[in-house]
Amino acid sequence: MKVGVIGSGGREHALCFSLKSSNNIKQIYCFPGNAGTSSIAKNINININDFEKLKDFIIQNEIDIVIIGPEKPLVDGIVDYLEKFNIKVFGPNKIASQLEGSKIFTKKLCEKYKIPTSKFGIFLNPKSALSFLQNCNFPIVIKADGLAAGKGVYISENYIEASKAVKEIFDGKFGKAENLLIEEFLKGEEMSFFIISDGKSYKMFGTAQDHKRVFEGDQGKNTGGMGAYSPSRLESEKLNKKIINNIIEPTLKGLKDLNCEYKGFLYAGLMIVNGEPFLIEYNVRMGDPECQTLLPKLKTDFSIIIKKSIEQELHNLNIEWYEDKSICVVLCSNGYPDTYKNNIELNLKKLGLKKNQFIFHAGTKIVNNIVVSNGGRVLNVVTRSNDFKSARENSLKILDEINWNNGFYRRDIGYKVIQ
Ligand code: AMP
Ligand code: GLY
Repeated sequence: MKVGVIGSGGREHALCFSLKSSNNIKQIYCFPGNAGTSSIAKNINININDFEKLKDFIIQNEIDIVIIGPEKPLVDGIVDYLEKFNIKVFGPNKIASQLEGSKIFTKKLCEKYKIPTSKFGIFLNPKSALSFLQNCNFPIVIKADGLAAGKGVYISENYIEASKAVKEIFDGKFGKAENLLIEEFLKGEEMSFFIISDGKSYKMFGTAQDHKRVFEGDQGKNTGGMGAYSPSRLESEKLNKKIINNIIEPTLKGLKDLNCEYKGFLYAGLMIVNGEPFLIEYNVRMGDPECQTLLPKLKTDFSIIIKKSIEQELHNLNIEWYEDKSICVVLCSNGYPDTYKNNIELNLKKLGLKKNQFIFHAGTKIVNNIVVSNGGRVLNVVTRSNDFKSARENSLKILDEINWNNGFYRRDIGYKVIQ
């Protein structure tokens, strides 16, 4: 089987890596990929927003299945486009991708199907938003609609902060804004819950917790993710059932009522409040770095999972996992999530990687046979182990060995699960 993977981050390197360990795979193509994917796949330098060029390459090279990593092409309808040319694609179509592309679409679905989520209001202009904020309780959450790459969400402690958020959103900081969302602040513990769905049936695909803030102790600005661990400490059979019954199933039913089958990974970002799950947001893809953290725990051949999903035969498959704990620590360029330098050499030779340790590249490329940085998040170091403590220690050992002067990482990933 020939497989194409769209994207260039740590998530896509982990996807390529999991496919590579299967005997069924003849060739992997990664569009456009990074230095890490280049050692296991053919990197193809096509802009992932250029659907026509991607389609031409996929047809010419007889690629059997295409997996879409990031949200933007999904929200822009890449699946609908490629399927028109009879290309087999793993990922949700444009309608289903609104679950991530439009927070308002999701909130309305929650309302209609009684999915637990925070109370909210949709505001069409600054005046109505500000007048609401004058009489509300704080903290309060203000969100831009649409994709904002992890930004676009403000947790405001008072009216002054909130009015600044309203101004920034309506001034177009996250793209043209016709409305914004104000929602109740939920106090609880977050959890990421994943399923894989083939349109007819679905299977759970693990849980994780990421660390979005840039500094230790979950301080500072939001980032794409500084690290993650799996499983979430909150996972239990009882909670899984509530999540499936109250959140996942009504969502799939809501999409079905729109004549839409959900195919692909679905990532529910949840807040667990006194044992009850509330939906914060949906992502229509694997998380990054959750994917890097989860996939090394997978026992079942990943290529078979994808093939069965495409064939709508997931119900026939038992997905098995290693019981181990897994921790991913992200190495970032100094200055991230603001400005940083690229093209700085990384020395990745002679690292003492143990069994069950993995390095997934994110922002890297090869220039003159040398691996150099090419982004804010640069590498993911993942360790699978019997316990979270040794998983983290071993990931940190590798990062200390890499000893990259241009970068930094958090040493406290997983602090809630490590004494
Ligand atoms: P989102 O992009 O919607 O996941 O929001 C980013 C982060 O903001 C989440 O991971 C939460 O930490 C926080 N957040 C979003 N919505 C809420 C809410 N209603 N209550 C509390 N925290 C929230
Ligand atoms: N780690 C958060 C995300 O992938 O959206």
